[in-house]
Amino acid sequence: MNDMRQSQIFPTSKLEEADGPGLNPTANRTMGDIIAARFSRRGFLKGSMASAAIAATVSPLALLAADEARAQSASVFNFPEVDAGVDADHHVAEGYDADILLRWGDKVFADAPEFDPLNQSEAAQERQFGYNNDFVGFIPLEGSADRGLLVVNHEYTNEHLMFPGVVTMQNGEMAVADATEDRANIEMAAHGGTIIELRRENGKWTPVTDGALNRRITAKTEMLLTGPAAGHDRMKTSEDATGTKVLGTINNCAGGVTPWGTYIMAEENIHGYFLGTLPEGHAEAGNYDRLGVPGASYQWGNFHKRFDVGQEPNEPNRFGWIVEVDVMDPTSTPKKRTALGRFKHEGAESVVAADGRVVFYLGDDERFDYVYKFVTAGTYNPDDRAANMDLLDEGALYVARFDEDGSMVWLPLTHGEGPLTAENGFNSQADVMIETRRAADLLEATPMDRPEDIQPNPQTGRAYVMLTNNTKREEANAANPRVENAFGHIIEILETDGDFTATTGRWEILLQCGDPAMAEVGATFSTETTKNGWFGMPDNAAIDADGRLWVSTDGNSMADTGRTDGLWAVDTEGEARGTSRLFYRVPVGGELCGPCPTEDMTTFFVAVQHPADGGEDWEGHGRVSYYEDLSTRWPDFKDDMPVRPSVVAITKQGGGRIG
Ligand code: FEO
Ligand code: CA
Ligand code: CA
Ligand code: CA
Repeated sequence: MNDMRQSQIFPTSKLEEADGPGLNPTANRTMGDIIAARFSRRGFLKGSMASAAIAATVSPLALLAADEARAQSASVFNFPEVDAGVDADHHVAEGYDADILLRWGDKVFADAPEFDPLNQSEAAQERQFGYNNDFVGFIPLEGSADRGLLVVNHEYTNEHLMFPGVVTMQNGEMAVADATEDRANIEMAAHGGTIIELRRENGKWTPVTDGALNRRITAKTEMLLTGPAAGHDRMKTSEDATGTKVLGTINNCAGGVTPWGTYIMAEENIHGYFLGTLPEGHAEAGNYDRLGVPGASYQWGNFHKRFDVGQEPNEPNRFGWIVEVDVMDPTSTPKKRTALGRFKHEGAESVVAADGRVVFYLGDDERFDYVYKFVTAGTYNPDDRAANMDLLDEGALYVARFDEDGSMVWLPLTHGEGPLTAENGFNSQADVMIETRRAADLLEATPMDRPEDIQPNPQTGRAYVMLTNNTKREEANAANPRVENAFGHIIEILETDGDFTATTGRWEILLQCGDPAMAEVGATFSTETTKNGWFGMPDNAAIDADGRLWVSTDGNSMADTGRTDGLWAVDTEGEARGTSRLFYRVPVGGELCGPCPTEDMTTFFVAVQHPADGGEDWEGHGRVSYYEDLSTRWPDFKDDMPVRPSVVAITKQGGGRIG
């Protein structure tokens, strides 16, 4: 999700909209001028000094030839780059197929009704693929290389694209009608996640609607709270005196698949689902302010009192968690794992450390919020799946401080340590987990430019942090070196001794994003990167089986980048480090999520989110895009079918490894 919902309803500046509210009230520590030394070191050397040194003795033509040869020999990627641009369709590198696998409204169960956008119902939507696919994971099924489960998050809903007759245009501005009860229930059913079996024939995966493990999870699915905050008084409501049972999960952005094959759904922008007014002087007021609760973007609270903080003041404490789903039992109760903290969780990608403990990297996607990691207390048992099922209930949560000399410290969020005491309102570990952001503020973690997906590379002991943007930054710090950072950057963490459980490490900026042809942007892509290869707003990432980095983006679909979002292949090693090239791009208005390469690298699943949510800046449309007047009707391109967010399966023509 690229924004708060109000801004979709009243589009203003696309760039502003892509930023989120920015709620951290603590002062950024001033690091002023220390940027220079770490700014663009590698790119600068390669781009100017290195070339200049060689150019003194070699002709420009020979230099160019040498550059091309080096680019070809050094990159670990080999595919013909897609031309960046904006149009109504998606595009993949020549020699590859991009096949639509699952669209909003497609059957998840054999008995599901056919998709009928003019007569959508809650009952139908509960049996069909949900809206705005974000995280995608693939869990192979034992016994066959050609069977697996696809797990997909449905982050949020775009009413103006989903429902006929809800938009009225006034002076070029769009107004969306308030939800009816039926519409609110459809929206709730379109949230959550999908688990669906895939089978492969002749190299192509297709959904199996009668798969025994198929499941829809929605904003009404019963879940259990586990870990330190479960059962705490602050988690109790009028409908749940135990403080352990909660209905549904919302705004599931990215996520993860654990080493033991469970599905992780991260709850991100939860604030917008709550409305109403907290009772005067309520103890949770500060807690909710820090998260922007109630954001009142949805009207569910008019029909379900638990989303009205005036009537059910503790309900927001039951959201903002990491959710774990046992996909092998379609009747299992998903668990909200409170040991991983409560904030606007982007995702939770994990890696098994050398000693068998499992490390989860966690981003809090808000301007000036933080990077976290969770280290399990127990160790992973590869021979006994059941033994791993509660690993996420015990462990240590850390928040990152990035120091100006390139070192970093992981600060423990442990009750009783440092400032995390009763004196500061933390009476137990439950309090620390419920108000993770405030605890991290007190530890003086480094405020970041919207931490999104963080992807560990098990082969190198490094992890890649996507920092999507922060146009509100007025003071730089070493790890966030650009003020008014419109295009974001990527940080590479090097854990001490390559040990993912380490509490110290080093860090380096892999890339400052944006157009390298505009000096004022300060982008640091390598000079081998073409005009198609640069990107802004990194959001999700994947490390493939060969240890290569792929990055997907959120927010390029605007006139001043001349490109939609897409999937870029980014070199991280040797001479080619910092070289990026475009592999796939989405239709106008879309965002690319969930890049998920299969272990054998023969299929790359990607999620095209909110296509047609935009079009004002594109000459092919040039006006507000909504159900009755869409900037694209991808992927069906039929007059009676709206645009549909979809998961796409990319394969190489004739088979073989991708990239
Ligand atoms: Fe839902 Fe942080 O993007
Ligand atoms: Ca995003
Ligand atoms: Ca995201
Ligand atoms: Ca990822």
